[in-house]
Amino acid sequence: MYKDEITNNINKNLTEKKVKEFVVENFKTAKLFEKYGIDYCCNGNRPLKDSLSEKNIEVDTFMPELEKILVGNNNEDQIFSSMDLVTLSQYIVNTHHKYVKEAIPVIGAHLDKVVNAHSKNHPELNNIKHEFSVLSADMLAHMDKEEKILFPLIKYLVESKKYGETPKSSGYGTVKNPIKKMEQEHQSAGSELEIIRNLSNGFKLPDDACTTYTVTYKELEEFEKDLFKHIHLENNILFPKAIELENELTNLK
Ligand SMILES: [Fe+2]
Repeated sequence: MYKDEITNNINKNLTEKKVKEFVVENFKTAKLFEKYGIDYCCNGNRPLKDSLSEKNIEVDTFMPELEKILVGNNNEDQIFSSMDLVTLSQYIVNTHHKYVKEAIPVIGAHLDKVVNAHSKNHPELNNIKHEFSVLSADMLAHMDKEEKILFPLIKYLVESKKYGETPKSSGYGTVKNPIKKMEQEHQSAGSELEIIRNLSNGFKLPDDACTTYTVTYKELEEFEKDLFKHIHLENNILFPKAIELENELTNLK
């Protein structure tokens, strides 16, 4: 077989793989998907080829970049997949929830300033400000539910396993119920992020953008990236593992 033919076959197999699977196996691929605007969390459960064709991305352009990451050292990428679920939940709270709570008032204040100074020439800023306040309120309520309901429930499952006990059913029934609700909320947050991205034309700055305008768009883009990683850790690693753990423990009955 010629080298090109072998490469084509490898690429064909890889493009059949689901987007989220790349990220679960190698966290560094997240950066590449972000670069091309491919959603690996809420819409990551579909073959790479579908995401590439939807975004009109040439397979021949994308695959060499992906392969470069895949052959690199990915020891670090397995850290999240190998973390125990309590540590992973704490990591999410201490890193991502903390970031979101700190970033919301900062971005909100910058948006107020930019709206006051520029909304006459750029009326879309009013909509961005509105969408960001909707997203912020949704995220704060969502994280509160995770911290008060879901993560303690996951901790309880981990401790049940540790002490060899069969977990008692919580008021929420199976852990799948709060997880399903949290996944729905992730989907809504993903849609709200997309609205902000579209309103800002992909965070493209106009020629008359001042420093605060520039900083605000950079902050919004950073907020989007952080939220994608955050949702990915939950949807693709923490939640499936919590369901797997509950199944394992209840099958002990
Ligand atoms: Fe979440």
